[in-house]
Amino acid sequence: MSRRPMKALGIFGSPRRGGNTDLLLEEALRGAQEKGANVERLYLSDYAITPCKECHGCDNTGNCVVLDDMQKIYPKLLEADVIIFASPIFFYGVTAWAKALIDRSQALWSRKYLLKDPSLGKEGRKRKGFFISVGATKGQRVFDGAILTVKYFFDVLNAEYVGELLFRGVEAKGDISKHPEALQQAYEMGRKLVSVG
Ligand SMILES: Cc1cc2nc3c(=O)[nH]c(=O)nc-3n(C[C@H](O)[C@H](O)[C@H](O)COP(=O)(O)O)c2cc1C
Repeated sequence: MSRRPMKALGIFGSPRRGGNTDLLLEEALRGAQEKGANVERLYLSDYAITPCKECHGCDNTGNCVVLDDMQKIYPKLLEADVIIFASPIFFYGVTAWAKALIDRSQALWSRKYLLKDPSLGKEGRKRKGFFISVGATKGQRVFDGAILTVKYFFDVLNAEYVGELLFRGVEAKGDISKHPEALQQAYEMGRKLVSVG
């Protein structure tokens, strides 16, 4: 019996194409693809995602009432087995592009916690979540806020936070290439994430 290929969704949370998180995520996805995963790339700056309006329109249905590009993203999130979320640090958090997607996942939070949808409960499909980030500074706590945000986002999707790749002192576009071990680590991680067992 043949097993269906793993679906790995790469979420590009930086608006800077070819920037540091893009390069890292691309390497991770290359690794995943080489291992036979079905890979999809989601460049958030290509999507118009309105911030959550806190209207509670999703409370009774688990569906967001705002009909914008986020509607195309919900199914992609739910179809993924592995989600690799990449965002640089902007003001000690993820970018606004990334945060808009996360806040709009409130509709899935409602599904899981208010409506007790079993597909997002303990018996539902288990996913893996991995976080990639970079920051310009070298502060000890530079990633703390973003990690918490991403952990709680993954929780909504039944995605276990299986790990992270975080690099400090990375600022100009492409600076991460000066750390070839970083790109190598991302590639290896992508391979590992889609390996069964
Ligand atoms: C609006 C803005 C806010 C930023 N805030 C921080 C910050 O709080 N801490 C930090 O270390 N770097 C900060 N940076 C620097 C970026 O994290 C850094 O340049 C990173 O390499 C950009 O990654 P990218 O190439 O994937 O977009 C900020 C950059 C911008 C544009």
